[in-house]
Amino acid sequence: MPHVITQSCCSDAACTFACPVNCIHPTPDEPGFATAEMLYVDPTTCVDCGACVTACPVDAIGPAHRLPEEHKVYIEINRSLAAADPANSSLGGPNPQARSRPPMAHTVPPKQLPIPDGTVVSVGVIGSGPAAMYAADELLRWEGVTVDVYEKLSTPYGLARFGVAPDHTRTRKVSGLFDKVAADPNFHIHLNTEVGRDISLEELRRRHDAIIVAVGASTDKKLGIPGEELPNVRSATDFVAWYNGHPEHRGDDVDLSHDRIVIIGNGNVALDAARILTAEPEELEGTTISPAALAALKNSKVEEVVIVARRGPEHAAFTLPEALGLADERTVIVHPDPDVAESLVAGSDSELVSHKLQLLESLETQSDASRRIRLRFLTTPESIEDTGDGLVLHAKHSETGEAIELPVGMVFTSVGYRGVPVEGLPFDERRAVLPNEAGRVLGDDGAPIPGVYVTGWIKRGPNGFIGTNKTDSQETVERFAEDVVSGVVTGRPLSSRGKRKRALGRFLGA
Ligand code: F3S
Ligand code: F3S
Repeated sequence: MPHVITQSCCSDAACTFACPVNCIHPTPDEPGFATAEMLYVDPTTCVDCGACVTACPVDAIGPAHRLPEEHKVYIEINRSLAAADPANSSLGGPNPQARSRPPMAHTVPPKQLPIPDGTVVSVGVIGSGPAAMYAADELLRWEGVTVDVYEKLSTPYGLARFGVAPDHTRTRKVSGLFDKVAADPNFHIHLNTEVGRDISLEELRRRHDAIIVAVGASTDKKLGIPGEELPNVRSATDFVAWYNGHPEHRGDDVDLSHDRIVIIGNGNVALDAARILTAEPEELEGTTISPAALAALKNSKVEEVVIVARRGPEHAAFTLPEALGLADERTVIVHPDPDVAESLVAGSDSELVSHKLQLLESLETQSDASRRIRLRFLTTPESIEDTGDGLVLHAKHSETGEAIELPVGMVFTSVGYRGVPVEGLPFDERRAVLPNEAGRVLGDDGAPIPGVYVTGWIKRGPNGFIGTNKTDSQETVERFAEDVVSGVVTGRPLSSRGKRKRALGRFLGA
């Protein structure tokens, strides 16, 4: 029986390099990788060697015959994704990249930069989320590079720590990967240090030979409807930060005294929030959930979470693995609607969308379960009203225009993230990213600013999964290395302390 990729896949892609027979796709070099909801193992070419299992940082791969019951559905999903991939017939065969890029920097001899002995290239990285830590991992593959990470919070790893649900224990394992990067003797982290507040960008550029901006996309997109500023209307990402104990949100006042909560937007963040809101608190005991959030959830009166989306099910923003996991663990119903029912049976040309539609079609349209999640499609929010006894979401049917009123206790918005400008650097307002060419930040004249790089959401926009940042950071660090080779970025003499550290590192590595 072949191996199978399952729910917790976050697109790290280490498996694609580890597989000797090139049967995991799409690889980072293939079209579709950046937007793939999950990768697949082609069962016709997998030889069951298991190299992918140890490469994956989040335990997403297993042999088909040992999968737990709830993951058996992935056998068919992997098979059908492989069969439907038009590129697949040309894939398979020996993998020229196999084992050439193992997952961790410290496991391979360092690569050499053309810098004189006794010289170091010092890189400052702003932010410590997944893009920053994957960039650090890539940088530390080079002999003579030191990395200083600047994090504004008292705890590192950004969304890997504060954005992943506490009950998604396998996905949270990616933090273990970052702990290994942080243990490198050439890595140093400055916590509670916000660039622009505690240290200026100019000072950072003086301190380091190059800087990499990896600050993510720190605000939420707005709905642009009246009532959005009411106190009980919050972003779902703030709610996720609250239950994960984010230092800036752990004291938030979350009102769970009403029986219904609405989430506007149906991406994975919305599904995560709904899953936590409908969890039995005992399920969350012993996880990393914040104690205050657990206490509040124990007293919660919430019975129904309605996830509202403007478009139909064929455009659902959640990923198939996330929806399968939710349907497996919670009572999920699809709000009855003839237009939605028609879309479900119509199917789709896309294999992944077809799987989603089949899943939705298999769900009930009503339930008296004490806690349930209702997926409501074709519903366009128009305003939110405070009645003094809770909120009312006023909406309309996206196709018929029929008026819809939903009395609720809280509204969470979850319609995407948006990057914010970094003081002292140009900003592309339309895309909300730093203008860049493959990771080199571009100045107002369109030319690269020497020694300034960008990675992650503030480079490409808020899309992809935790592991997508690895490929993104590899590209940025490749540009950095090219600039060292061409002399655009130069190093500095190693301090005597640095020399002692390097000697010790060589001794320990010998
Ligand atoms: Fe490749 Fe993993 Fe199969 S490494 S051969 S997909 S078991
Ligand atoms: Fe591969 Fe997904 Fe793991 S791409 S390495 S199975 S996170």
